[in-house]
Amino acid sequence: MPGPLIHNALGAAPPVVARAEGVWLWDAEGNRYLDGCAGAVVSAIGHSHPHVVEAIAAQAAKATYAHRGAFTSEAAEAVGETLSRMSGFPGVWLVGSGSEATEAAMQFALQYQREVGEPQRTTFLTARAGYHGSTLGALSASGHARRAAVAGLALDMTALPAGDALRDQGDQSETEYAEAMLREARTIIHEHADSLAAVMIEPVGGATLGANTHPAGYLAGLKRLCEETGALFIADEVMTGMGRTGTVLACDAEGVQADLVAMGKGLGSGYTPIAAVLVSSRVLTAIEQGSGAVLGGHTYAGNPLSAATALAVLEVFETEDVIARGRGAAAVLREQLDELATRHGIVTDVRGRGMLLGLELDAGGRRQGATASALYAACAAHGLVVYPTTGGYVDAVIIAPPLMIERGEISVLVVALDAALTDLETSYEAPQRLPD
Ligand SMILES: Cc1ncc(COP(=O)(O)O)c(C=O)c1O
Repeated sequence: MPGPLIHNALGAAPPVVARAEGVWLWDAEGNRYLDGCAGAVVSAIGHSHPHVVEAIAAQAAKATYAHRGAFTSEAAEAVGETLSRMSGFPGVWLVGSGSEATEAAMQFALQYQREVGEPQRTTFLTARAGYHGSTLGALSASGHARRAAVAGLALDMTALPAGDALRDQGDQSETEYAEAMLREARTIIHEHADSLAAVMIEPVGGATLGANTHPAGYLAGLKRLCEETGALFIADEVMTGMGRTGTVLACDAEGVQADLVAMGKGLGSGYTPIAAVLVSSRVLTAIEQGSGAVLGGHTYAGNPLSAATALAVLEVFETEDVIARGRGAAAVLREQLDELATRHGIVTDVRGRGMLLGLELDAGGRRQGATASALYAACAAHGLVVYPTTGGYVDAVIIAPPLMIERGEISVLVVALDAALTDLETSYEAPQRLPD
């Protein structure tokens, strides 16, 4: 029975989560679900990992909070060192959520430009159909339909093309497509060249685009355009980072070195709200040689309990070779999704990278998003949770289970998805409410 707690859909009564372990979730009525999307592409190492659970209890017994203005903690320092070693970035700034990470990255870019004597560089360019978070600045940078919530306040940044092979590529080869996108991006970036602080982009389109990759060479080309114009390049790796696409950062696979990286999701893996900005030596040096201080910060940023939790998650990543295991499992899952698509006409595209996979669906003339929501409901009825895209661009669901998923669990996922697609094709029912 709905209480005062407000859900996205007012009056909704979602199942009550009772327990979670590995790739599985149980509701209070005892129903079991396979977490086919790691929540919101979060639980990279799976649920209730004993090493993390023990670390949370141990840190809680020591110290949960001390303000970072007055104290640091061994755990926070170790998170900085481990993330720096894994990513190759010399600086790590901790925050509490992906939206805070993208906004903090934008603020680092503004500070960098002031430190190097370019204070007029205050504008940003982002992709037309990206998603960078739900705070005012992050939503301003997003091409999400939810932008309407901040109408009149949102700044105008969403101008650049993003990979949308299904719709825009047409007869062009991938190289021709990347070149066409870069020609368009060049015009837009050069129009803003004098005032541009940074370009921010997701290396693989997530929440709005359903694991849509850019054509090869596009990210590297954008980075070159930034270098030409004095703008910084920010990679929003909140969804793609921490091995989700097969490498620590998705940019690594394309040989692109960002100036700033926003991370989140897999870093806390669902055990604690934590996110980070990775800061390059270019930006760090400018601050060191300039004011010597970073402006900003959040009350809970890098608190000892979250830091110890994230440290334990990072230890699991390293000791259990989570990223390599995710690559192997992703190859198996991808093959099976490709096969599913040959049998289900409603699936118009299977795409993605590593364990960030997406199925685009034939909207069949229905309201945009309705088919993805109907598939979400059909999957839930078969004990599988998937992540429908939102934002008004594509009817797609993201399939992104924990990176540690075993082969047998992949088979369970695919059998449930197969059954849900069959249900959808035989008796399409419009969902009562859209999940947000
Ligand atoms: C690429 C990207 N950036 C930023 C965010 C915002 O993260 P959060 O919801 O933790 O604020 C998300 C969340 O889905 C995301 O996918």
